[in-house]
Amino acid sequence: MQKILIFGGNGQLGNDFKKYIPDKYYSKGFDRDIVDIRNYLEVENIFKEYNPDFVFNFAAITDVDYCEEHPSEAYETNTMGTKNIAICCKKYGSTLIFISTGAVFSGGKGKPYIETDKRGPINVYGKTKKEAEDIILKTLTKFFIVRCGWLFGGFTKDKKFVRKIADKLLEEEEEICVVNDKYGSPTYTADFSEGLLKIIEFNNYGVYHMVNEGYCSRYECAREIKKILKSNCKIIPVSSENFKLKAKRPTMEAIENYNLNNSGYFKMRKWEVALNDYLKNYLKYKNGRQ
Ligand SMILES: NC(=O)c1ccc[n+]([C@@H]2O[C@H](COP(=O)([O-])OP(=O)(O)OC[C@H]3O[C@@H](n4cnc5c(N)ncnc54)[C@H](OP(=O)(O)O)[C@@H]3O)[C@@H](O)[C@H]2O)c1
Repeated sequence: MQKILIFGGNGQLGNDFKKYIPDKYYSKGFDRDIVDIRNYLEVENIFKEYNPDFVFNFAAITDVDYCEEHPSEAYETNTMGTKNIAICCKKYGSTLIFISTGAVFSGGKGKPYIETDKRGPINVYGKTKKEAEDIILKTLTKFFIVRCGWLFGGFTKDKKFVRKIADKLLEEEEEICVVNDKYGSPTYTADFSEGLLKIIEFNNYGVYHMVNEGYCSRYECAREIKKILKSNCKIIPVSSENFKLKAKRPTMEAIENYNLNNSGYFKMRKWEVALNDYLKNYLKYKNGRQ
């Protein structure tokens, strides 16, 4: 039986991903309490014990503003932690699946980025992920670097944009301001998880973008959430200049599934359809808790 190990298995993505692993695999996830990926010996002990076929690294510091204020911690985790895992993958012959981000690009393109576009991150988070990608590209031949977009999904684990906006609308706020000058690719954790499990079947190693099809501004995304939730809240489009954040955000963070679509393996569904699916389930979940 092939073995799957997951680092960062208790985060927004890892927690959802575990639900989709087919029974044909043996799988085991590790939280930071059990393995701190910054500690090489802790990582290697896990490889020694399990000798895995596939290793998914979801562990990262993902709060972009926190990374900006704690660059060393971000680098040690996102870059050096990934290096520890990559070294072990090489030593034990395992395939590494590393989750990266559209934030490795500078954001100046004017349309979604494809895999071969030049990277040039503008914040600490993006830099740590780019450097992790570089280490994998230099160290391994058996790897998948899979970049995703603005993740949504995972109910309680979802601390990002979609849940924040949905909660505001469900709390019946009268109006909210949302930026209309930052673009990204909403990506449903459920679709992304299923996609990861399909992609490893093909042994066609390399860099892939895997997001729900299409892209939008934060404002357009909020409007779609409003439509799905049938909310009366007024959504006011504003410039990002109105929000003083620690880390710069690329204007264009959206990415296109160029390699995936050309491979003919499978296609991701549209972000609006996936969002509708998630929010319907989110409503049931919220109502069930009341
Ligand atoms: N969220 C997005 O929109 C997005 C977009 C593009 C790419 N990604 C990438 O997708 C992956 C998963 O993201 P996510 O949204 O699931 O993040 P998340 O919810 O923040 O989960 C990250 C996990 O990593 C763990 N972790 C942090 N430092 C660690 C360490 N030193 N050793 C071991 N584990 C550690 C965290 O543990 P604790 O809970 O104990 O801190 C947490 O369980 C990340 O690589 C992220 O960079 C995310």
